[in-house]
Amino acid sequence: MTAPASHDFSFAIHPSSDPVPAARRAELLAEPGFGRVFTDHMVTAAWTKEDGWHDAQLRPYGPFALDPACQVFHYGQEIFEGLKAYRQAGGPIVTFRPMANAARFISSARRMAMPELPEDAFVHAIELLVTQDREWVPNQPERSLYLRPFMIATHVGLGVSRPSPSYLFAAIASQAGSYFHGGPHPVSVWLADDYIRAAPGGTGAAKTGGNYGGGFVGQLQALDHGCEQVVWLDSAEHWWVEELGGMNLFFVFGSGSSARLMTPALTGSLLPGVTRDSLLTLAADLGIQTAEGAISVADWREGCASGGITEVFACGTAATITPVGAVRGTGGDWPIGDGTEGPVTRQLREHLLGIQFGQFPDPHGWVHKIC
Ligand code: COI
Repeated sequence: MTAPASHDFSFAIHPSSDPVPAARRAELLAEPGFGRVFTDHMVTAAWTKEDGWHDAQLRPYGPFALDPACQVFHYGQEIFEGLKAYRQAGGPIVTFRPMANAARFISSARRMAMPELPEDAFVHAIELLVTQDREWVPNQPERSLYLRPFMIATHVGLGVSRPSPSYLFAAIASQAGSYFHGGPHPVSVWLADDYIRAAPGGTGAAKTGGNYGGGFVGQLQALDHGCEQVVWLDSAEHWWVEELGGMNLFFVFGSGSSARLMTPALTGSLLPGVTRDSLLTLAADLGIQTAEGAISVADWREGCASGGITEVFACGTAATITPVGAVRGTGGDWPIGDGTEGPVTRQLREHLLGIQFGQFPDPHGWVHKIC
């Protein structure tokens, strides 16, 4: 569904009259975890068939009043994004490749038959929110402000003959420490063999809530088997590795100057991660050969047994780069390398964070200054 040509993105600014005092904010930020502490403001905009985008606002963070019959509650017409704001040494607050997130928000909207939010409005919304809540952007190493833009269907009615004719866009912001409980560490993963995340022609490549809601059953199985994340396999054979619960996967073959990197190809059922894309470029910059391809459960297991696969890591905006230390499944368990973070994983994580935090050059112009 294409937005009408007319849209009004002159955001009305309504600052909070009751922001969290600095001392309380400092307390909240001592142990922020991930996605638990929200800032003082949010951005919202409405869309209707008649008026296109309108009523754009920056306003105090708070609950929405929504009719219980809104379509989003019943049919899950919803999309979201995730990106981060970083405080660089010396002061500037930046974000990373926001246009890539804006573009993916558009492709998710198309798949979910929702209106497209223009890329410049997406980026402007982020800029306004971060600028208003800049005191919330942490200055501790590796901490950032996680930004969560999303859009929901607001039409009141239970019919499913058409997509909703009205929507609400919003962006909220939350402190991001470590995504995983207990700080960054190698995670163990569970191979899902009786559920799937996505199938060809489905919504797997869209960032829509249902992909995650439908994945919790696999995540629960992973937790029951002592693993932190579920690995999703392809829908037809349950054999080809696709991605983790909320992250893409990378495999390192070989070591030293002959190390090469491989990640499952975007077949249409995987999420095209911005971090995934950035790492393919970054690895090539560092002289590491990269490939997008297919890897089976047997390839993974045998590769680890023979020593051909030396490292595996997961990547995403929220969790950045997280080493995978061990694999479990109904067919057996195996370790990856010595179970700790390997040198290629470390090198890529340091480079990516180095660019985001301004300690490394940014040859691709990925860093976007906000204030
Ligand atoms: C992200 O990495 O931004 C994600 O969307 C993963 C998850 C928190 C849903």
